[in-house]
Amino acid sequence: MIELTSNALPMHAHDPLAGIQAAADRVAAALRPGAASASSDVLERALAALSSELVLADRALALDPEGRRAARETAHAQLGRLLAVSPLLARAITKPRGYAGDHAMIDMLYRGERAPDGAALALDEVVLKLATVVAVVRRKEYAVEWLADRLRTPGVHVVDLACGPCRVEREVLERGVTARLVGIDSDPEALAYARGVLGPHAGAVELVNDNAVRIARSATPTPALAGARLVLSLGLFDYLPDTIAIRVLRALRRDMDPRGEVLIGNFAAGSPDRAFMDWALDWPLIYRTEREVRALLVAAGFPAGGISVEQEALDGLVLMATARCA
Ligand SMILES: C[S@@+](CC[C@H](N)C(=O)[O-])C[C@H]1O[C@@H](n2cnc3c(N)ncnc32)[C@H](O)[C@@H]1O
Repeated sequence: MIELTSNALPMHAHDPLAGIQAAADRVAAALRPGAASASSDVLERALAALSSELVLADRALALDPEGRRAARETAHAQLGRLLAVSPLLARAITKPRGYAGDHAMIDMLYRGERAPDGAALALDEVVLKLATVVAVVRRKEYAVEWLADRLRTPGVHVVDLACGPCRVEREVLERGVTARLVGIDSDPEALAYARGVLGPHAGAVELVNDNAVRIARSATPTPALAGARLVLSLGLFDYLPDTIAIRVLRALRRDMDPRGEVLIGNFAAGSPDRAFMDWALDWPLIYRTEREVRALLVAAGFPAGGISVEQEALDGLVLMATARCA
């Protein structure tokens, strides 16, 4: 796994944008058609240097939000054009569903989708090794294990809130599990896509078009959630500010079986790729500490003693919080 960071001394610490420009030029040279380096670790190192420059710029402008916003926009316009040669990154950069991490983008990562050849392939190979991308795939694997462990008795009611492509459900069903599986997503296109992913298992998952924010605001229980024993949600809470996140959690706890449990994934503070995600791909997330994730759950009424927080892997980047409703 590579991390797009390095401890190298900043060459352009005095001028963050000049540093980013020099690093972007290096990436562009490595991506040039016919560049001998296109398939080598020269590209990997050029991207690592770019990521380091973005970290430095982000830090240098931390106390100047307006300057940071302007610099980030300038950098993103330039880097977006450069990196969109990869269909994988192009989806994150062009945001056809309005934001970067949509169902199809996430599924491209799950499937390890690569361009057929050339500079785009070389770039995809590096991107698929990014710590963040590896963490997204492992987060899904963690969720599959978490569910499989708890679905030893048939018929358990499970809800996946913001289910996206339903890869989790597909993999759980491939293990022969029988449960009442419900996938909720706000994007009808995601649900249509999920039907395709589920293929022969499509009849085993109820797909419901609903919005977590609507659920949070609703005074009455949501039928799809009513009495659910297990609720999982990956790739949603990293987008929700605290006030909304707490309201969503409170609604889950209200609607679920009191003996139930939730599993919430949230990218952890301190990710080495944060500046690259934010500045280069315009993919900002809300990164949280373990203490912050626990505080959300407690504020929503989950008892502190029933919360455990792990990472998706030993060297992981995502906090996976399991909480008992009572
Ligand atoms: C990053 S994907 C994660 C998909 C899936 N949970 C996974 O990890 O494979 C985010 C999904 O959340 C859905 N989504 C975003 N905001 C939502 C909301 N407010 N309510 C329900 N779904 C939402 C999107 O449509 C998208 O399919």
